[in-house]
Amino acid sequence: MVSDISRRGVLQGAVALGTLGYGGQAYADRAAIAVQKDYQASKPMTPYIGTPTSRVDGRAKVTGAAKYAGEFNATGLAYGSVVTSSIAKGRIARIDASEALRVDGVLDVLTHQNRPRMASTDSAYRDDVAPEGSPFRPLYDDRILFSGQPIALVVAEEPEIARFAASLVRVEYDEEAHVTDVYRQRDEAIPLEAPAKPAENPFAPPKPRGAAEKAFAAAEVRHQGEYYVPIEHHNPMEMYASTVIWEGGGKLTVYDKTQGVQNVQRYVCSVFDMKPDDVRVMSPFMGGGFGSGLRPQYQVALAVLAARALERSVRLVLTRQQMYVLGYRPAMIQRIELGAKAGGTLDAITHEAITVTSKYEAFHRQETAWSGLLYKCANAKYAHKLARLDLPTSCDMRCPSAATGVYALECAMDELAVALKLDPLELRLRCYSDRDQNADRPYSSKGLRDCYRQGAEAFGWDKRIPQPRSMRDGNDLVGWGMATGIWEALQMPIAVRIVLSANGHAEVSCATSDIGTGTYTIMTQVAADMLGLPLDSVTIKLGDSTLPQSPVEGGSWIAASVSNGIATTSDAVRKELLRLAKQMPNSPLADAAPDAVVLADGKLVSKRDASRAVSIADAMRHSAVDRIEQEKSTTFADDGSHAHNTHSALFVEVKVDEQLGVIRVTRVVSAVAAGRILNTKTAHSQIMGSVVWGIGMALHEETLVDHKFGRIMNANIAEYHVPVNADVHDIKVIFVDEPDEIINPLGIKGLGEIGIVGVAAAIANAIYHATGKRVRDLPITLDKLQR
Ligand code: MOS
Repeated sequence: MVSDISRRGVLQGAVALGTLGYGGQAYADRAAIAVQKDYQASKPMTPYIGTPTSRVDGRAKVTGAAKYAGEFNATGLAYGSVVTSSIAKGRIARIDASEALRVDGVLDVLTHQNRPRMASTDSAYRDDVAPEGSPFRPLYDDRILFSGQPIALVVAEEPEIARFAASLVRVEYDEEAHVTDVYRQRDEAIPLEAPAKPAENPFAPPKPRGAAEKAFAAAEVRHQGEYYVPIEHHNPMEMYASTVIWEGGGKLTVYDKTQGVQNVQRYVCSVFDMKPDDVRVMSPFMGGGFGSGLRPQYQVALAVLAARALERSVRLVLTRQQMYVLGYRPAMIQRIELGAKAGGTLDAITHEAITVTSKYEAFHRQETAWSGLLYKCANAKYAHKLARLDLPTSCDMRCPSAATGVYALECAMDELAVALKLDPLELRLRCYSDRDQNADRPYSSKGLRDCYRQGAEAFGWDKRIPQPRSMRDGNDLVGWGMATGIWEALQMPIAVRIVLSANGHAEVSCATSDIGTGTYTIMTQVAADMLGLPLDSVTIKLGDSTLPQSPVEGGSWIAASVSNGIATTSDAVRKELLRLAKQMPNSPLADAAPDAVVLADGKLVSKRDASRAVSIADAMRHSAVDRIEQEKSTTFADDGSHAHNTHSALFVEVKVDEQLGVIRVTRVVSAVAAGRILNTKTAHSQIMGSVVWGIGMALHEETLVDHKFGRIMNANIAEYHVPVNADVHDIKVIFVDEPDEIINPLGIKGLGEIGIVGVAAAIANAIYHATGKRVRDLPITLDKLQR
């Protein structure tokens, strides 16, 4: 009954993800579905919200009790291994599995030639968050769209047998010419036009305002620069895996590594023409996704295909190398023009981006519009082009569009500050805007000024000597840089069920995932507060497609959505309890209105007079009720009148060895404004993790493609560099107070992504300050400093 709402949620999610002002406009256009808040949030007692609560699933995770997709067992489990293409483009001329089939223990080799029936239309493969285009269809036909494409699945009694046999599958190709280099494709890149209605393509650049070209030409001080971000990969710790349990009669239970069990369930149902009741998708724990698990990945399709072909349970775990074709942060070339008055206010902003996607799907987000949103400026212009390459489709990766778009903007702002001979923080303050500049509307809250102030103070920014190469520590050049971060505070329709037992235990369930961010824990905290129970009296069930509807977990929207969802359903539970309490003889709550009571310490308590109370147990016992069950859907009112964003200020110290160019990020202060912080411990971890990733983005991460073969060369974490402990030094996280009574009753914004935005720019700016050398293409490796 709530599936309709969930669909809309996903749609709104797709509309809102990285769309800035346009997201709001799209919401406004859909005012008919942006229904009113359907609950009166009772003020929670909040003994748990806002505290540094340890993960409720921490013990299960460190003891191995928490099971991941590739760890579920079944009798007669068979194992798959994938054969991948060695060319980037063309057709399979011949595929010979005879040698593989002769290996003892091999059950089958599935290819496009012998596979069971799968859907043939594009639309059957289009998942909830698919971009425009024709989704990849694994083992569908003989076409090769990218190097590393799955072209055969070997299924065997043991994983080692499957893997060995996979090496024996012989393939001949008809090869065609491919292009995988964004620089070779930049002149052919296809411009995205602003659609007549934003909803038609919410990720197209916003309409320009003013006359940016004229204003730039007339500006007293100008900066223009081109910034490059390479392809980057998510590299979650857990491999992509699916264990498909053959339940008999064609029914399947699918343990899948995914950020959205219901998205996968719908996908499997449509690709294999199965009934929803016959496919249950579970993902109780996830070892990191960062966006790579928003869409169903090919291993789930192949594992289901094999289970149906063999009528037995099948597990397929991808190798690290194979995970490099599951999507990536698109490489991009960005050009920024800034024109300013000598006093340090902006007159003109132009932001152009060319981003990479596949030939078959037009994935893109909206890198450019952050520039027009963040700072006060009357004239702004945007352009976005797509470079279509013979690679798999790019995808969302932690803070898609902002991590990259704001990187370019914030480096450019630093360069403008140099041109203006102005402190970079002072420039941001002079350009500060209390209004969303794209849509000309106020923010529901914006604590960025506090981020600047508290961050600068904690860092000691006022002791910065402006001149590059002026600060030293022995052989090291010391550099201090800063940047701003911004992301959306999104929320999605969601449903939550609560079952309250007379013994004072509550089970709270929702089909959301916990991608590792701490969703189990914040759900426990919020439910405990709303229901007036201790933490250990609350159990959370999630990551199961049979549970109440949830969008994919992404876009930093689950914390706000599910918390307010719990509040909605808790209100219904409280009302039901009050109804029961009123039936008691001489009830002290006989004439209490629903909103005049709260749940606290296992009791219904009058807000006005705490002595008037009825215990949950008494109320339920009196009516001979042993459980109260409520399920409610929550939607979020958004009339488009306010912008909803999180912000941050980054202050970074680098030390650069003068002779060798070795860069260390010795200090980072990240001051974040993200509304009400539910759990200061897990929130701190989210920001720290994001900062570490920002260090990787600035200094280490780069997927390298051998363009001759169109193949990724460093598809492993030995050669794809990520920060290790030795790269991570002092990181200080500050949460500024940011009350927000407009965004939702609990004032929650979410912070899974904001922490990465601005980090790479602040590091790049610090490196310039240390060395006097401006490197505009990431990652900033020591060789680039020596050029
Ligand atoms: Mo996030 S990139 O929406 O998982």
